[in-house]
Amino acid sequence: MTTIAIDPGAQSAHDNYKLLIGSIIPRPIAFVTTLSREGVLNAAPFSFFNIVTADPPMVSVSVQRKNGEPKDTARNAANRGEFVVHIADERYVEAINETAAPVPPDVSEVGLAGLTPVPSDRIAVPGVAEARVRMECVLEQTIPLGGHDGTPSCDLLIGRVVRFHIDDELYEKGRIDPDALLPVSRLAGNDYAKLGERFTLVRPT
Ligand SMILES: Cc1cc2nc3c(=O)[nH]c(=O)nc-3n(C[C@H](O)[C@H](O)[C@H](O)COP(=O)(O)O)c2cc1C
Repeated sequence: MTTIAIDPGAQSAHDNYKLLIGSIIPRPIAFVTTLSREGVLNAAPFSFFNIVTADPPMVSVSVQRKNGEPKDTARNAANRGEFVVHIADERYVEAINETAAPVPPDVSEVGLAGLTPVPSDRIAVPGVAEARVRMECVLEQTIPLGGHDGTPSCDLLIGRVVRFHIDDELYEKGRIDPDALLPVSRLAGNDYAKLGERFTLVRPT
């Protein structure tokens, strides 16, 4: 194998971004709702998303800044201290994609995409009813990271899950049925992936 060695410091942030989003695939997609100070229900998808720990359950969402400014999701999450994470699935991924449009903070992407707000149990931020898994989160920490000259390039949101809502059709004895969930993941550019072929590997003891 011949490899190409690349110094990330010698190329642009965009070129580094292309290597990251092309290599770190497939990425799960969090569909995140937040409430603005004025009470507008904001929603957007984020594929820089993962588990942080299970004890207590925490998830991370990395929200990139635009021209040094936090996106509505990061700003609202910091203001209210709460957000809802929904797992993107095949049934409503097109609506999710519509919410990624850059709309002003006073416009609700939930309404634009025809999604149905549903009240949360433990937090003030509603979720959407279309999601088969949704997690009410309390903001544990926001960590501004990256960037140059004191202006961060992203806001890393760490959310502590205070309530899971799971469609009973995919909940079986404490586990989630992946075939019923139909999760979708993000690749590079405008490409997505469905669950592919599965195989089992038993871990050595
Ligand atoms: C599938 C998908 C995944 C995305 N993942 C991210 C991400 O991980 N981080 C990010 O900052 N933006 C991501 N975006 C772009 C945001 O969704 C977009 O900037 C959105 O308008 C932000 O909304 P807000 O300003 O209401 O927070 C993604 C877009 C799509 C369609």
